[in-house]
Amino acid sequence: MKTTLHRLRTRALVCLGLLALGTSLQAATLTIACGSNGQDYASCKRHTADWAQKTGHTVKLYTTPSSSTDLLGEYRKLFDASSPEVDVVMVDVVWPGLIKDHLVDLKKFSKNAEYHHFQAIVRNNTQDGKLLAMPWFTDAGLLFYRKDLVAKYSLRPPKTWDELAQVAQKIQTGERAAGVTQFQGFVFQAKAYEGLTCDAMEWLTAFDAGSIVDAKGEVTINNPNTVKALKTAASWIGTIAPRQVLDFGEEDARAVFQSGHAAFMRNWPYAWSMGNSADSPIKGKIGISPLPSSIPGGPRGATLGGWQLAVSKHSKNINLAADLVMYLTSAPVQKERSIHGSYNPSLRALYSDPEVLAANPFLDELYKVFRAASPRPSTVTGARYSEVSESFWNATREVLSGKTSAEDSVHRLDAQLKRIKRNAW
Ligand code: GLC
Repeated sequence: MKTTLHRLRTRALVCLGLLALGTSLQAATLTIACGSNGQDYASCKRHTADWAQKTGHTVKLYTTPSSSTDLLGEYRKLFDASSPEVDVVMVDVVWPGLIKDHLVDLKKFSKNAEYHHFQAIVRNNTQDGKLLAMPWFTDAGLLFYRKDLVAKYSLRPPKTWDELAQVAQKIQTGERAAGVTQFQGFVFQAKAYEGLTCDAMEWLTAFDAGSIVDAKGEVTINNPNTVKALKTAASWIGTIAPRQVLDFGEEDARAVFQSGHAAFMRNWPYAWSMGNSADSPIKGKIGISPLPSSIPGGPRGATLGGWQLAVSKHSKNINLAADLVMYLTSAPVQKERSIHGSYNPSLRALYSDPEVLAANPFLDELYKVFRAASPRPSTVTGARYSEVSESFWNATREVLSGKTSAEDSVHRLDAQLKRIKRNAW
């Protein structure tokens, strides 16, 4: 009697177990927003397909705009509608304070994996004690240049912005005279979006003009060095840089540089692997250095960028989505992405991995630049960061396009930022 009861109970338990297993094993379809610049799409497709194969689930890629400002706008629409359409989202390093109410705390899924990543990024992604996103890759602005052309004209890679203007002008004049009529000295990002904030912050650093708002939350933009920095940048437009840079994002600048039509480009590390890809006309001809300073030996700006992966609170498959995030941010995936896409890992250990260093020689040489990259003032300004950044890029663009003098624009920006701040951020 006892044995029969025991058998029945065991069978019931097995059935319950199978039922539970059945539910969790039911194949699901997740949607991920993981970028569209450079190799973003292809790389994400490859790694999500690997995860799908391992788990038996399906992953769809959400089509994302190239500009991070447009992407944020799109997320806001989805989040405001509590839409479950996207389960996993890529999150810019400046966004955790802006979209924190819509992201899942990943702490219970991470098994402490976050401790292996750069802790500054983990802190950035932690809001109100919740780990809202796992670091995926980190970015810093760099100067890309044509090694072959610098050598052809017996020049040296510039260390100051004045030198850059001179070297770029010489190469531009020479190449145009040699028949490449569209050749440009310098291309960068100056359309009205977050990318311009990144570029212009680098000019502020080079001119020792602060970081728009300081770590204590004080608005510091109104100083003579900001005026100098913006005037210098405005002097490039129409001389060494085409007026079209006022509508350029990262990919527009890269298109000009990679097709062989520019001597210098400001961009993020991903442009290295793209520029050295098999079909690139400038493969093997690219040099990388820190961006110039304003005076010899002075500070050289590098804005800290980078992306995280997070799970939307509105997802219908939070557990699975978190599993996908942990997989995509893990060491093997970051290593592959670094080797084949020059995405800078956020995992400390990969910076001493010989294969990673062989594929990205600048990682070792510029390690200090990456570690010292300047964060945008997103932590201190919290939910107001997008207004701060938008005011800054608009004021900068007014000066670059020649509409407003640097003095007036900085003066107006100062008042605007103080209004946004009101009593506190
Ligand atoms: C890069 C950076 C990101 C930045 C964006 C601006 O993607 O990683 O942090 O906001 O460029 O365009």
